[in-house]
Amino acid sequence: MNDPLIGEILVPADDLSARVKELGEQVSADYEGRDLLLVGVLKGAVFFLSDLMRHISAPCEVDFMAVASYGSSTDSSGVVRILKDLDIPIEGREVLIVEDIVDSGLTLSYLLRTLNARNPKSLEVCALLTKPDRRKVDLPIRYVGFEIPNRFAIGYGLDHAERYRNLPYVAVLADPG
Ligand code: IMP
Ligand code: MG
Repeated sequence: MNDPLIGEILVPADDLSARVKELGEQVSADYEGRDLLLVGVLKGAVFFLSDLMRHISAPCEVDFMAVASYGSSTDSSGVVRILKDLDIPIEGREVLIVEDIVDSGLTLSYLLRTLNARNPKSLEVCALLTKPDRRKVDLPIRYVGFEIPNRFAIGYGLDHAERYRNLPYVAVLADPG
Protein backbone atom coordinates (compact mmCIF):
# COMPACT_ATOMS: atom_id res chain seq x y z
CA MET A 1 0.00 0.00 0.00
CA ASN A 2 1.42 3.34 -0.98
CA ASP A 3 0.29 5.49 1.93
CA PRO A 4 2.44 8.11 3.66
CA LEU A 5 0.94 7.21 7.04
CA ILE A 6 2.38 3.70 6.88
CA GLY A 7 5.82 4.01 8.46
CA GLU A 8 8.63 1.68 9.39
CA ILE A 9 7.71 -1.99 9.65
CA LEU A 10 7.95 -3.26 13.23
CA VAL A 11 6.99 -6.88 12.61
CA PRO A 12 7.05 -8.32 9.07
CA ALA A 13 4.35 -10.76 7.95
CA ASP A 14 6.71 -13.76 8.02
CA ASP A 15 7.71 -13.07 11.63
CA LEU A 16 4.04 -12.72 12.59
CA SER A 17 3.07 -16.05 11.10
CA ALA A 18 6.08 -17.88 12.56
CA ARG A 19 5.44 -16.50 16.06
CA VAL A 20 1.68 -17.09 15.91
CA LYS A 21 2.38 -20.72 15.02
CA GLU A 22 4.75 -21.03 18.01
CA LEU A 23 2.19 -19.48 20.35
CA GLY A 24 -0.47 -21.86 19.04
CA GLU A 25 1.79 -24.84 19.69
CA GLN A 26 2.55 -23.60 23.21
CA VAL A 27 -1.14 -23.10 23.97
CA SER A 28 -1.91 -26.56 22.53
CA ALA A 29 0.67 -28.19 24.79
CA ASP A 30 -0.44 -26.26 27.89
CA TYR A 31 -4.16 -26.94 27.38
CA GLU A 32 -3.94 -30.52 26.13
CA GLY A 33 -6.95 -32.48 27.33
CA ARG A 34 -8.63 -29.34 28.71
CA ASP A 35 -11.63 -27.58 27.22
CA LEU A 36 -10.43 -24.14 26.18
CA LEU A 37 -12.49 -21.01 25.59
CA LEU A 38 -10.74 -18.26 23.65
CA VAL A 39 -12.11 -14.81 24.36
CA GLY A 40 -11.25 -12.35 21.62
CA VAL A 41 -11.38 -8.64 22.28
CA LEU A 42 -13.03 -6.90 19.33
CA LYS A 43 -12.08 -5.67 16.94
CA GLY A 44 -8.29 -5.69 16.85
CA ALA A 45 -7.71 -9.23 18.13
CA VAL A 46 -9.87 -10.90 15.47
CA PHE A 47 -7.02 -11.21 12.98
CA PHE A 48 -4.53 -12.63 15.48
CA LEU A 49 -7.14 -14.89 17.06
CA SER A 50 -8.25 -16.47 13.80
CA ASP A 51 -4.64 -17.26 12.84
CA LEU A 52 -3.76 -18.44 16.35
CA MET A 53 -6.80 -20.69 16.63
CA ARG A 54 -5.81 -22.60 13.49
CA HIS A 55 -2.58 -23.62 15.25
CA ILE A 56 -4.36 -24.86 18.37
CA SER A 57 -4.92 -28.60 18.46
CA ALA A 58 -6.62 -28.71 21.88
CA PRO A 59 -10.45 -28.68 21.75
CA CYS A 60 -11.49 -25.03 21.81
CA GLU A 61 -14.37 -22.64 21.42
CA VAL A 62 -14.37 -18.92 20.74
CA ASP A 63 -16.41 -15.99 21.99
CA PHE A 64 -15.97 -12.22 21.76
CA MET A 65 -16.22 -9.11 23.87
CA ALA A 66 -16.12 -5.51 22.78
CA VAL A 67 -15.01 -2.81 25.16
CA ALA A 68 -14.47 0.91 24.88
CA SER A 69 -12.12 2.91 27.01
CA TYR A 70 -13.05 6.42 28.01
CA GLY A 71 -10.30 8.90 27.29
CA SER A 72 -8.43 10.17 24.27
CA SER A 73 -7.88 7.98 21.21
CA THR A 74 -4.27 7.30 22.17
CA ASP A 75 -4.48 7.12 25.97
CA SER A 76 -6.88 4.82 27.73
CA SER A 77 -8.21 6.01 31.06
CA GLY A 78 -8.81 2.67 32.70
CA VAL A 79 -12.52 3.38 32.83
CA VAL A 80 -13.85 0.75 30.50
CA ARG A 81 -17.35 0.19 29.18
CA ILE A 82 -18.58 -3.16 27.86
CA LEU A 83 -20.11 -2.67 24.41
CA LYS A 84 -20.66 -6.36 23.79
CA ASP A 85 -20.49 -8.99 26.49
CA LEU A 86 -19.77 -12.69 26.08
CA ASP A 87 -22.63 -14.83 24.75
CA ILE A 88 -21.95 -17.63 27.20
CA PRO A 89 -21.25 -18.01 30.93
CA ILE A 90 -17.62 -18.76 31.81
CA GLU A 91 -18.03 -20.21 35.28
CA GLY A 92 -15.79 -23.27 35.58
CA ARG A 93 -14.29 -22.72 32.10
CA GLU A 94 -10.64 -22.54 31.05
CA VAL A 95 -10.54 -19.04 29.60
CA LEU A 96 -7.78 -17.49 27.52
CA ILE A 97 -8.20 -13.80 26.68
CA VAL A 98 -6.72 -12.98 23.29
CA GLU A 99 -5.66 -9.36 22.85
CA ASP A 100 -4.00 -7.53 20.00
CA ILE A 101 -1.87 -5.20 22.12
CA VAL A 102 -1.32 -4.33 25.76
CA ASP A 103 -0.32 -0.71 26.14
CA SER A 104 -0.96 0.85 29.57
CA GLY A 105 -2.60 -2.43 30.60
CA LEU A 106 -5.64 -0.62 31.98
CA THR A 107 -8.12 -2.23 29.55
CA LEU A 108 -6.80 -5.70 30.27
CA SER A 109 -6.74 -5.10 34.00
CA TYR A 110 -10.44 -4.23 33.85
CA LEU A 111 -11.20 -7.30 31.73
CA LEU A 112 -9.32 -9.58 34.11
CA ARG A 113 -11.24 -8.21 37.09
CA THR A 114 -14.59 -8.50 35.31
CA LEU A 115 -14.04 -12.03 34.02
CA ASN A 116 -12.45 -13.28 37.26
CA ALA A 117 -15.60 -12.25 39.12
CA ARG A 118 -17.47 -14.85 37.02
CA ASN A 119 -15.39 -17.67 38.53
CA PRO A 120 -13.71 -19.28 35.54
CA LYS A 121 -11.65 -22.38 36.30
CA SER A 122 -8.62 -20.57 34.89
CA LEU A 123 -8.03 -17.18 33.28
CA GLU A 124 -4.93 -16.36 31.26
CA VAL A 125 -3.91 -13.81 28.65
CA CYS A 126 -2.34 -14.16 25.22
CA ALA A 127 -1.30 -10.82 23.71
CA LEU A 128 0.28 -10.50 20.29
CA LEU A 129 2.09 -7.27 21.18
CA THR A 130 3.07 -5.41 24.32
CA LYS A 131 4.67 -2.03 24.90
CA PRO A 132 6.50 -2.59 28.21
CA ASP A 133 7.56 1.08 28.48
CA ARG A 134 3.95 2.20 28.61
CA ARG A 135 2.72 -0.23 31.26
CA LYS A 136 0.92 1.46 34.17
CA VAL A 137 -0.27 -1.70 35.92
CA ASP A 138 1.56 -4.95 36.45
CA LEU A 139 -0.32 -7.77 34.75
CA PRO A 140 0.19 -11.50 34.43
CA ILE A 141 0.45 -12.03 30.67
CA ARG A 142 1.03 -15.73 30.07
CA TYR A 143 1.78 -15.53 26.33
CA VAL A 144 3.34 -12.59 24.48
CA GLY A 145 4.08 -12.47 20.76
CA PHE A 146 6.42 -9.50 20.53
CA GLU A 147 7.54 -6.59 22.68
CA ILE A 148 7.51 -3.39 20.66
CA PRO A 149 8.83 0.12 21.36
CA ASN A 150 6.65 2.96 22.51
CA ARG A 151 5.27 3.91 19.07
CA PHE A 152 1.70 3.89 17.77
CA ALA A 153 1.40 0.71 15.74
CA ILE A 154 -0.98 -0.20 12.88
CA GLY A 155 -1.72 -3.34 10.91
CA TYR A 156 -2.63 -7.00 11.52
CA GLY A 157 -5.74 -5.88 13.38
CA LEU A 158 -4.42 -2.64 14.85
CA ASP A 159 -6.15 0.45 13.56
CA HIS A 160 -5.77 4.16 13.35
CA ALA A 161 -9.26 5.65 13.13
CA GLU A 162 -10.54 2.20 12.03
CA ARG A 163 -8.16 1.95 9.08
CA TYR A 164 -5.08 -0.21 8.38
CA ARG A 165 -6.35 -3.31 10.19
CA ASN A 166 -5.93 -5.19 6.90
CA LEU A 167 -2.16 -4.68 6.60
CA PRO A 168 -0.47 -8.10 6.73
CA TYR A 169 2.39 -6.69 8.88
CA VAL A 170 2.67 -4.37 11.90
CA ALA A 171 4.06 -0.93 11.13
CA VAL A 172 4.50 2.40 12.85
CA LEU A 173 1.93 5.08 12.13
CA ALA A 174 4.06 7.69 10.41
CA ASP A 175 4.03 11.35 11.25
CA PRO A 176 2.22 13.00 8.31
CA GLY A 177 4.29 16.17 8.98
P1 IMP B 1 -4.45 -0.04 27.19
O1 IMP B 1 -5.68 -0.06 28.01
O2 IMP B 1 -3.70 1.26 27.31
O3 IMP B 1 -3.54 -1.23 27.44
O4 IMP B 1 -4.89 -0.05 25.67
C1 IMP B 1 -5.27 -1.20 25.04
C2 IMP B 1 -6.01 -0.94 23.75
O5 IMP B 1 -5.64 0.31 23.14
C3 IMP B 1 -5.62 -2.01 22.77
O6 IMP B 1 -6.47 -3.14 22.90
C4 IMP B 1 -5.78 -1.30 21.44
O7 IMP B 1 -7.12 -1.39 21.02
C5 IMP B 1 -5.44 0.14 21.74
N1 IMP B 1 -4.03 0.43 21.42
C6 IMP B 1 -3.01 0.60 22.28
N2 IMP B 1 -1.86 0.85 21.65
C7 IMP B 1 -2.15 0.82 20.33
C8 IMP B 1 -1.35 1.00 19.13
O8 IMP B 1 -0.13 1.22 19.13
N3 IMP B 1 -2.02 0.90 17.96
C9 IMP B 1 -3.36 0.64 17.88
N4 IMP B 1 -4.13 0.45 18.97
C10 IMP B 1 -3.54 0.55 20.18
MG1 MG C 1 -7.98 -3.77 21.58
